[in-house]
Amino acid sequence: METFTMIKSRRAIRQYSGQITDEQLQQILVAANAGSAGMGEFENYRLTVIQKPEILSQLNGIYDAPTVIVVSGKSADLMTGNSAGTMVHGMELAAEDQGLGANYNMACLSSIPVGVIPDGFQPLFAITLGQTSEKFTPREVPLDRIKTNIVK
Ligand SMILES: Cc1cc2nc3c(=O)[nH]c(=O)nc-3n(C[C@H](O)[C@H](O)[C@H](O)COP(=O)(O)O)c2cc1C
Repeated sequence: METFTMIKSRRAIRQYSGQITDEQLQQILVAANAGSAGMGEFENYRLTVIQKPEILSQLNGIYDAPTVIVVSGKSADLMTGNSAGTMVHGMELAAEDQGLGANYNMACLSSIPVGVIPDGFQPLFAITLGQTSEKFTPREVPLDRIKTNIVK
């Protein structure tokens, strides 16, 4: 989809009808890597793809998503969290551009079992993913959804 059309079409999808393919996953991971990291320090981040039912069943608030990708960082400061946001946002757009359902997720972070995230990294932000029957068409996005000051 054309970029600005996709930006207007994106939305939180919380109903999933099946697992994503490995090819779809690869494209989503490319999008994560196309995100930004403060100071360009990509070595401070890890992506963890969770598709194992035994682990997914322990995660809170994932709406039975068959795939969860967690971005973790060496710290949880503002710059690190914001960087994770760019990675997750890119993954969401790449997923929904492929017709997949996706949603940002923080609800699961505190329920990730020990040993799933690499040692020395803290979970910062996640995305839930799966097939969906939802369609993506451009939304009317009100300009005042976020109150804005223009200083000039
Ligand atoms: C930082 C952040 C954390 C979020 N965490 C969750 C979450 O844990 N569970 C959830 O269902 N949605 C979560 N969301 C999605 C928002 O609730 C959703 O994007 C918002 O309601 C706007 O809806 P829209 O994405 O359809 O425009 C999160 C979004 C952001 C930006």
